[in-house]
Amino acid sequence: TITPVILCGGSGTRLWPLSRKSYPKQFANLIGDRSLFQGTADRMSGESYTAPIVLTNSDFRFIVTEQLMEIGIDPGAILLEPEGRNTAPAILAAALWMQKQGQDGLMLVAPSDHAIPDADEFRAMVARGAEAAREGQLITFGVVPDRAETGYGYLELSRVPEDGDDGFIPLSKFVEKPDADNAARMMASGQHLWNAGLFLFAPETIIAAFEQHVPDMVGHVRQSLDEGKTDLGFFRLAGTPWQNLDDISIDYAVMEKAENIGAVPFNHGWSDLGGWDAVWREMEQTEGGVALSGEATAIDCENTMLRSEDSSIEVVGIGLKDIVTIAMADAVLVADANRAQDVKKAVTALKKKE
Ligand code: GDD
Ligand code: MG
Repeated sequence: TITPVILCGGSGTRLWPLSRKSYPKQFANLIGDRSLFQGTADRMSGESYTAPIVLTNSDFRFIVTEQLMEIGIDPGAILLEPEGRNTAPAILAAALWMQKQGQDGLMLVAPSDHAIPDADEFRAMVARGAEAAREGQLITFGVVPDRAETGYGYLELSRVPEDGDDGFIPLSKFVEKPDADNAARMMASGQHLWNAGLFLFAPETIIAAFEQHVPDMVGHVRQSLDEGKTDLGFFRLAGTPWQNLDDISIDYAVMEKAENIGAVPFNHGWSDLGGWDAVWREMEQTEGGVALSGEATAIDCENTMLRSEDSSIEVVGIGLKDIVTIAMADAVLVADANRAQDVKKAVTALKKKE
């Protein structure tokens, strides 16, 4: 069996004003009528999947239970991190938790901020990695790059995949978030895929990798589990050992260093919805590149996204070109479409004002 391990501790500042500190993007309905978190949990359910382990923090614990209940999924465990320490400690906590519970099988680690429209193809892809994972490999899933993105990790395959070659391929290297030159080089090579941020492995395989590459972390996380407490069906990891952990992602802590690592290619649609430009790409669009959501109307607009996130607010655009507008009851974003990545700056500016 495969145990989903869902990571949802991030805050998603580039999707302001929809994504807030108290209600981050993974819980909002960005595309369609479910949240990204719900889509993630639903994609990893059904035959051969157990109930999910969710890693989040105390602030989001009831959003998590409510959203799972809405889609009829019972969580296996909800582990609460005392503080965000990035993905490495969170994933290690899940692996040690499974080991402690005597839960065998594989763990499928998934971020909760991705759009993957075809759930059947997704499960078929996971199944293609299962055998190698059971044999002790760390499996990642790779997407053919269509731009020299510097915000992703790159998988250097040990061979160029042939047509229809969609099974496990050993990696010669994992490069997390390269600079622009290296990203361009890897994108052009034909031998590199994007790391989709999804991982499949056995708990003992990843624990061994942590022990090899970041042994201190294992002691702290284990202690945090041992001293943690169950509270109303949630499990609170203990704070003191957790606070001593470095803030580091699994990509830097383990994946870049590991040798027993391989990829399964995937080309049925995948997107990290990190910013409004990515959301826009996933939305239904007219020929002139107009995308609308909620109570929104566009008249003679071009390359424009208008979203009303509140049913009581009508958004109307007339004669707009290259504009992004997100309207909410307490905040409205109006931006040049090419500046979507700068929304982060707006959040920083607003924080200073507080
Ligand atoms: N529980 C928990 N605790 N979750 C966390 C924490 C934490 O401290 N930090 C991040 N997360 C969650 C985020 O909410 C997100 O769902 C997921 O872990 C991945 O974190 P990101 O911060 O979004 O990572 P990234 O997008 O920069 O990079 C990763 O994903 C890319 C693909 O989307 C890397 O794995 C890249 O290599 C990869 O290309
Ligand atoms: Mg991400």
